[in-house]
Amino acid sequence: MDLKKLVRDIKDFPKEGIVFKDITTILKDPEGLCSSIEQMQASLAGLEFDYIVGPESRGFIYGVPLAYNMRKGFLPVRKEGKLPYRTKSKSYTLEYGTATIEMHEDAISPGDRVVIVDDLLATGGTSRAMVELIEEMGGTVEKLVYLIELEFLEGRSILEGYAVDAVMKY
Ligand code: PRP
Ligand code: HPA
Repeated sequence: MDLKKLVRDIKDFPKEGIVFKDITTILKDPEGLCSSIEQMQASLAGLEFDYIVGPESRGFIYGVPLAYNMRKGFLPVRKEGKLPYRTKSKSYTLEYGTATIEMHEDAISPGDRVVIVDDLLATGGTSRAMVELIEEMGGTVEKLVYLIELEFLEGRSILEGYAVDAVMKY
């Protein structure tokens, strides 16, 4: 299924000059939702790993169905102050601002193999911060999978050396 037909461009959101890729139009479409999950999952076929890590909030939308389908655990990454137990945090720059993400300090044990799942790769700041948190806890990042990659923002450049895959590229 050609999912690009279901992506809606929103000009000047959340700031002037940004053309925001709106995926709610994919999520609304039953075939689009199913196909987007399946196409991301296809990129993980045959890969051995223990957990899927996904960031709030759109990373949850895709991370959990993939973890469920592949019978893996899901480790949520949240914006600061939201996780109840002791956390490790990282601050980073977004295309349209700055943010701090956190994971529970015991989410990952040394030797755990994880896959990062998110809806979209833009500057790579969020993903880079997740990679650093995972590695500081002793985990290894086996792959990063996105529904959309904004190639013109060159997020891959700060993820050099890692396996990166995206269903749609712009
Ligand atoms: C968006 C998107 C990715 C990230 C990509 O999330 O869902 O997680 O930004 O940008 P980057 O590659 O430049 O880091 P956002 O932080 O806007 O949060 P949301 O999912 O709650 O909307
Ligand atoms: N669209 C959707 N999410 C995003 C974008 C975008 O253009 N940039 C960073 N996160």
